[in-house]
Amino acid sequence: MLLLVIIILKQFNGIGAHIVDHGMELSVTRRQDNLKRLDFSENDFSGSLISPKFGIIPAEISLLSKLHVLSIESDPYEPRFKPHNFELLLKNLTRLRELHLSSVNISSTIPLKFSSYLTNLGLSDTRIYGILREGVFHLSNLESLDLLGNPQLTVRFTTTKWNSSASLMKLYLSGVNATASCNLSSSIPKPLYNLTNIEVLDLGYNHLEGPISDFFKFGKIRSLSLRNNNFNGKLEFLSFNRWTQLGLLDCSVNSLTGPIPSNVSGMQNLYSLFLSSNHLNGTIPSWIFSLPSIEI
Ligand SMILES: *[C@@H]1O[C@H](CO)[C@@H](O)[C@H](O)[C@H]1NC(C)=O
Ligand SMILES: *[C@@H]1O[C@H](CO)[C@@H](O)[C@H](O)[C@H]1NC(C)=O
Ligand SMILES: *[C@@H]1O[C@H](CO)[C@@H](O)[C@H](O)[C@H]1NC(C)=O
Ligand SMILES: *[C@@H]1O[C@H](CO)[C@@H](O)[C@H](O)[C@H]1NC(C)=O
Ligand SMILES: *[C@@H]1O[C@H](CO)[C@@H](O)[C@H](O)[C@H]1NC(C)=O
Ligand SMILES: *[C@@H]1O[C@H](CO)[C@@H](O)[C@H](O)[C@H]1NC(C)=O
Ligand SMILES: *[C@@H]1O[C@H](CO)[C@@H](O)[C@H](O)[C@H]1NC(C)=O
Ligand SMILES: *[C@@H]1O[C@H](CO)[C@@H](O)[C@H](O)[C@H]1NC(C)=O
Repeated sequence: MLLLVIIILKQFNGIGAHIVDHGMELSVTRRQDNLKRLDFSENDFSGSLISPKFGIIPAEISLLSKLHVLSIESDPYEPRFKPHNFELLLKNLTRLRELHLSSVNISSTIPLKFSSYLTNLGLSDTRIYGILREGVFHLSNLESLDLLGNPQLTVRFTTTKWNSSASLMKLYLSGVNATASCNLSSSIPKPLYNLTNIEVLDLGYNHLEGPISDFFKFGKIRSLSLRNNNFNGKLEFLSFNRWTQLGLLDCSVNSLTGPIPSNVSGMQNLYSLFLSSNHLNGTIPSWIFSLPSIEI
């Protein structure tokens, strides 16, 4: 696996990389500072020849200031940043369009100094913590924000001004510390509905509540996961729209009541429907069995 890292780097015409006993070392010279894309994803940064300290992401990555895409995704082993190096990276890589750091041990707050070109920010399972600063949502080109699996990251729905996040199409906030308010009787705040372009929304494993029918407003939704929350109300809104784009609907482990409506139409792209652990009653309507791509 170490060899793989070296080979990938060698393809970038002369970027120097060698493995030293504390991990991967990058040497960056003038010849590489035009590098636009650096992709270490789908590696396994573990290995028997490597000391436990292996996996420190070299600070020199911050010198590649013209990078457009940086991807370090590692499962299950966690490469990590030394303190402050994540902040330096964001500060120096001012041209960055895509940053994917899934399962990297960042262990810091998210600083607010970002490339304004960012379209994709992926920081799932990175041990980031603190209160998510609203500025992250206001990156004017941001299309996909993935923060799932960071239970120490507090996201405050109520105070966020979602009207400035109109470009957002994919939002993954499953398993963060999301709260609608300090008062667990309030619903998802209305401004969230200003995410008019949202196609993928994952709010699973939070403590959110409110009427499920409010999600009716997301007309372009392809994938909606609300698993393990406390949403209530009935599913009848499913019959009031043609949910032609909807592929996945996961409302399991909530407090939904009443029957599954029998007069639903236009959901021909639905392939996954999860409704377990609610208080639904009645019979399973026939339209569910006639969906062309459903997996039952
Ligand atoms: C950030 O970039 C500047 C040049 O633009 C460089 O001098 C500095 O060393 C870089 N910082 C880090 C931590 O790489
Ligand atoms: C993650 O990084 C932090 C700080 O660098 C360290 O204290 C912690 O032990 C690391 N966690 C794991 C699982 O490696
Ligand atoms: C989660 O958020 C609440 C307030 O919304 C806060 O009191 C609590 O400390 C947070 N938990 C963690 C683990 O950050
Ligand atoms: C978003 O709404 C807030 C008030 O809720 C307002 O101050 C701000 O100007 C709005 N931003 C945009 C881009 O409309
Ligand atoms: C909490 O919710 C209750 C009932 O909806 C309401 O009467 C109360 O004013 C709320 N408190 C706060 C601090 O929002
Ligand atoms: C949506 O955003 C607009 C401004 O862009 C604002 O006037 C409106 O109040 C917002 N709607 C909600 C429900 O927050
Ligand atoms: C579906 O049936 C329910 C009651 O059974 C009714 O309230 C609703 O208007 C119907 N929806 C449509 C789109 O016909
Ligand atoms: C479903 O439960 C409601 C009360 O929550 C009840 O009024 C209704 O009759 C039940 N329907 C069926 C088919 O059991």
